[in-house]
Order: sequence, then structure tokens, then C-alpha cells
Amino acid sequence: MIKKFNFLLPFIISIIFSCSNKKITAVDVLEARIDTLLHLMSLDEKIGQMNQLNSTGKVNDFFELIKSGQVGSFLNEIDPAKINEMQKIAVEECRLRIPLVFARDVIHGFKTILPIPLGQAATWNPELIEAGAGVAATEASETGIRWTFAPMIDISRDPRWGRIAESLGEDPLLTSILGASMVKGFQGKSLSASNSIAACVKHYAAYGAVEGGRDYNSVTTSEQALREIYLSSFKASVDAGAATLMTSFNEINGVPSSCNEFLLKKVLRDEWKFNGVVVSDWASVEELIPHGICVDGKDAAAKAANAGVDIEMVSSLFSQHLKELLKEGKVTEKAIDDAVRNILRLKYRLGLFKNPYVKINVKSSAYSEEHLKLARELATQSIVLLKNKRNILPLKKGIKTIAVIGPLADAPYDQMGTWVLDGDAKFTQTPLMALKQEFSNKVKILYEKGLEFSRDKNKSNFKKALKASKMADAVIIFAGEESILSGEARCRADISLPGAQSQLIEEMKNSGKPIILVILAGRPLTIQKECDLADAVLYAWHPGTMGGPAIADILLGKVLPSGKLPVTFPKMVGQIPIYYSHKNTGRPVGEPLELIDDIPVAAPQFSVGNYCYYLDAGDQPLFPFGYGLSYTTYKYTDLDLSDTIISAGDKLKISCNISNTGNFEGTEIVQLYTRDLVGSLTRPVKELKGFQRITLKPGEKKQVIFMLSTDDLSYWNANMKKVAEPGKFRIWLGGSSESGLETEFTLCER
Ligand code: GLC
Repeated sequence: MIKKFNFLLPFIISIIFSCSNKKITAVDVLEARIDTLLHLMSLDEKIGQMNQLNSTGKVNDFFELIKSGQVGSFLNEIDPAKINEMQKIAVEECRLRIPLVFARDVIHGFKTILPIPLGQAATWNPELIEAGAGVAATEASETGIRWTFAPMIDISRDPRWGRIAESLGEDPLLTSILGASMVKGFQGKSLSASNSIAACVKHYAAYGAVEGGRDYNSVTTSEQALREIYLSSFKASVDAGAATLMTSFNEINGVPSSCNEFLLKKVLRDEWKFNGVVVSDWASVEELIPHGICVDGKDAAAKAANAGVDIEMVSSLFSQHLKELLKEGKVTEKAIDDAVRNILRLKYRLGLFKNPYVKINVKSSAYSEEHLKLARELATQSIVLLKNKRNILPLKKGIKTIAVIGPLADAPYDQMGTWVLDGDAKFTQTPLMALKQEFSNKVKILYEKGLEFSRDKNKSNFKKALKASKMADAVIIFAGEESILSGEARCRADISLPGAQSQLIEEMKNSGKPIILVILAGRPLTIQKECDLADAVLYAWHPGTMGGPAIADILLGKVLPSGKLPVTFPKMVGQIPIYYSHKNTGRPVGEPLELIDDIPVAAPQFSVGNYCYYLDAGDQPLFPFGYGLSYTTYKYTDLDLSDTIISAGDKLKISCNISNTGNFEGTEIVQLYTRDLVGSLTRPVKELKGFQRITLKPGEKKQVIFMLSTDDLSYWNANMKKVAEPGKFRIWLGGSSESGLETEFTLCER
């Protein structure tokens, strides 16, 4: 009946609107369709749409629930035939034929696994990241998945937190730009295209600020910091058209996100006008009980529904209690209708009413040459060169023998990293495989793992590894973390190399040969000692399916490293949290700055500087945000501003010349930072305001231009207003947050 009636709808609407002389838009037609369908739905059918279940593959278990309209979406079903079987019941046997939507965690690739998001962030390449999300969407949608729980855009400044691997790093602007790229990549030009999938920006909000870097822990922050640091990337993703959003497990200042009206109504709906779907995280509605904010499941259902959760993931409390809560007046019909409208809007936007089924037996694009090429490009650009003493890299042509050592040299499963549900390790190309292929018979490869896996403490194979290293011209050690040490609930209080890997590196140093250290990990590690031992250090994150060829490309100099750190690397875990956009404090570091071993015995109390620093670690990180070397060198000259005094509403043109002063063609990521010297609130010592990738041939010079608006200088003040305040600003242009040319300008009252 609804199907027959449906085609008449646009005409009926046009009659209604023509009377009001209002132009009909596609949105009007869509909203009229939604209202019409909503009007026809029973309360049970409405509540059913708000229920999301986890498919375990035994789909028969769900047939009755689907047929009676008690479930609106599933996660984790990836068999197209089973998806169609379930969909058939929904759209051919249910009264109102409302299609199901199927979701999956497609975080960094579906089958073809891309670098972990933290690695992708090191590319600082929005276009490439968007293309990567497009590949993931194509592969996932071929199985019937039309909704991914990604991108994860939690700002994280604590590498003890396992989920930093899924993040895009510590900076709100970089995360905003790259997160929006992923949204666009997943959703494509039109969400109704069969190879588009709905993005789900998560975890809303401030999940990366969990106390102690311990997953699921409490978050305490001010509204000002919440808005300035943790919400800005969500706003950018909503503005980029993100179709859905997921609430986080954590509380903020005593209120868990899944029942947080400030987040879900005031900010998301009233301020940002978001009209997409809010889905809870896995059982996070039920977790309101252990949080101690709800007495039981019924209370949790009421608080979550009233706060603005539209779909409850797997804990089914909405299904159990909403009807009764409505009768008792504890939940309003409007709350339910608003949620169901958002859900129906998502399904219409996905085109599921018109095309509910996935095509069966289509040739999968998984691991296609094109997809593998893109995965390799992303992995190559994600690699960060941290050290290159005596230009030991790229490997020199005269090399005859190399020793390949370490538990991550040939670890196809671990190389893919965390949140890999559908990637097949059989397709992973490891560094050992790639080097063998590259060198074939030209260079002899001596391979000794030394340790079986990253946590291995058994040193019995060190002797063999040392023997191989002594016979080689260069030693390449692949160390880091197994994938299980990274991701959700995989927090580490000690973020040094696990197992006996550090000792392995020390032992290989005894070979007297050049040591090249390649780290595969899901977080920054405290590797100061290992960096001191090595001649060159490459950070490859967990690089995904094509990590091997990407690392080989860089080692051989086929491509120059261009990656820049999206997150600060601490010297030691005690420095955490440590990030570049910190406040200056009243006691910034000055002279004399004595470290613990500089201080004379019986030193008088006030003979050592009273500064904001650690006696045993200073105030500087091991490697700063935005840092990354190349095989060539770049020189920045002629920093120029269009004005040194601007007024509100003006645009400031910033230009600078960059020259390639080395011997290789390379790509530099030019970064623009500002500092607001005096504000009505204290301001960070630096804030990223823009970046550009430029490629230069040896000897080539190019000018880069940035346009800075006064809006770009605004921040959330104490009155929760986003303002740019008059006063002096400093500006830097350089290749990291710690270097570059500097000048200043003044923003004056109009
Ligand atoms: C997990 C994660 C979330 C994921 C969801 C579904 O616990 O927190 O990121 O999307 O459950 O798998």
C-alpha cells in the first residue's frame, strides 16, 4: 500500500506547495516522504527502527524480529546472500517495507587494508585519504555494507591510550581536515550511490581525553576546552555532511555521552543543525548503569532516548522499555518520532527504499591492482624519517648483503594493525617479501627474526641474528608492536618497545655495521635509546596490506620520505600529556636549565631554575608534532606578509619561498602556525593554521601562499563565544612545529 501511494507523493506535495508559492526542493519531498511514512507507523514499528543488533551469521535467529519490525539495522553481517535474505523479509514481508541498513567497522580499509588512521594522518594528504576511504567504501558496499563506524576523530594527546592508533592525531585542525576527507571518501558524491557508505564520526565526544590514557576512563574538561579542542573536528565532519555520529563510552564531567543532552541536543542539534543519526556505541546505553547515572535498564533507556540517542547498539533497552516509558510519560512521543525521522532520512538518503538489495556474485574489487596501488601510496606517504645520520639512507647501490632482523620484518597479520575485521593476512606484502623481490639476486638477504614476536623475551636467537648482522653491509631491524597491543582497550602504561626488542637492537649494534631501525606500531613509542643506537630511523606505523613495498620504496629511495608526525613523541611516558600546542604558563623554561645529572651535589635549593619542566626529561619531546626528515633538504626564505596590521574581516596573505637544497626530488609539507600573544584567556604557544604539500626538484624554488582570515584567529572565550581578539600575533612557516621562519602582525580593533 505504501509502495503504491509513494509515487503520488511528489504530486500531492507540489499541490500543497504551489498553494504556498514555495519552490519545492528535493529536501521538501524527502521530508514529506518521511512524515508520511512516520504517520503510518505503529509505536512498535517506530521503536523497532531504534534497535540495532549484532549479526552473528545465524541470520535465521533474526527472521521473526525483522518480520515483526523489531529491528532497524544490523552490524557485522558481511555475507551478501544473508544480507539480502534479511532484507527480503524487511521489504517484502513487513507491513511498511522499511529496509534494513547494515553496518561494519570499516576503519582503515575493508579487505585491502590501508595504514592505520594515525599513519594516514602522517601523510597530511587530504585528497589521498579521501581516495582511500573511497576504496574502502567500494569494497565494503559490494558485500551489502552501507554504513561504516568511521572516521574516528577523537583528539588524542596520550599515546598510552590504545585507540590513538585509530585517531588522526593531536591537532584539531589536522583532524578536522583529514576527518572531513574520510567522510567525503566514504560517502562519495551521492550517498545513494551503490558504492557509497554512510560515515559515522566517533566517538562523540572527548573520548581521547580519558584520564591516564586508560580506555573508557573519565574525562574532566571545561566547556571552553571541549569546544576548542574536542568538538571542532566533529563540527567539521558534520559540515562535511557526515550522515551519522556515535556517542562515546566515557563521561564528561560526570555525564556519560550516551545521555548527554548538552552534547546531543544543545550542540549537535540546536547549534550545528545536525539532522543525521546518532547511534550509541556498543551497549553504551546499558553502561549508563555501571557509570552510576542510571538505576536500571529502564532508566537508561529513558535517559538515552530523551538525550537524543536515535539508535541503540545491541543492548536492546529501547525495545524493552520505550513503550512503557511512553505510557508513563517518561519519554515523549516527539523524542521517538524525532529519532525515527532521522533513521528514515538516513535510509532514504542511502537509496535503500529504491535499491534495498546488494548485487550478488559481482566481481569483488578487493585487492585489485588499483586498490593495492592506492594502499601502497598511502603507506609510502605515511612513513616518517626520524633520523638519517651520515645520509645512510637511501640504501647505497654498492650494498652486497643486508641483514633483515626483527619480529616485524615478516609479520603479515600484525602489520595490518588494529580494527582489521575483514583484511586477509594472506594478501599482506611484508618488508621481507618486498626486499626479496626488490633485491632478488642483486643483493644477498640474511634474515634472522631474533625474536618470534614483539613481546618475546627469549634471547636465544640473538647469536644467529648477530652473526648475520656481522656478515652484512647494513642491518635493517623491524621492531614495534603486535597489532593486539594497539586499539580499543589496549592501553599501555609503559610505551617502550615490548619484549626484548630493545636488547636485540643493542646486540645488533655490536655488529659494528650501520643500523637502520624501522618501527611498525600503533602509537608513538618511547624509543630515545633505540634512536641513539640506530643510524637511521623510519616510523611506518601499522602500514597495512602494502606496508612492505612502501617501506622498500623508501629504503631504496624510489620515493622520498615525506611523512610528518601527527602526534608528539615523548622521551618518556612520564612526560605525558605532551603536545605542541601547550600553554606557556607563568614559568616557561629559561636559563639556567639544569637537568638531573647536571646538578652539583649539595646544590642549594634555589640554584636550579624553577620552570615548568622535568629534572629528568626537560620540557621538550623526543620528536615534535609536524616533524619529519627527507633525503633532501629544504630552505625557507623571504617570509612576507601582505600587511603587518589587519582589522577584523581582513585576509592576511602570507608568502614564503622554499628551495630544494639537496640532491633528490622531494615533497615538503609546509606548515603554518600562529600564536595569539595575549588573550582574554591564555593561548597556546602555537596553533596549526594551515599546511600545503609542495614537490621540488633539486635546486628548484617555489613560493607558497597562505591566506589567513581573522576567523582563523578566533577561539572560544570565557563567555563561550568564538572571537578573534585584537592584539599581536606571531606567525611561523616551516617544516615542523619546532622550526621555520617567524614574523608577527597585529590585529587591531576595526
Ligand atoms: C566498539 C567501539 C566502536 C565500534 C563499535 C562497534 O566497542 O568503541 O568504535 O564502532 O564498538 O564495533
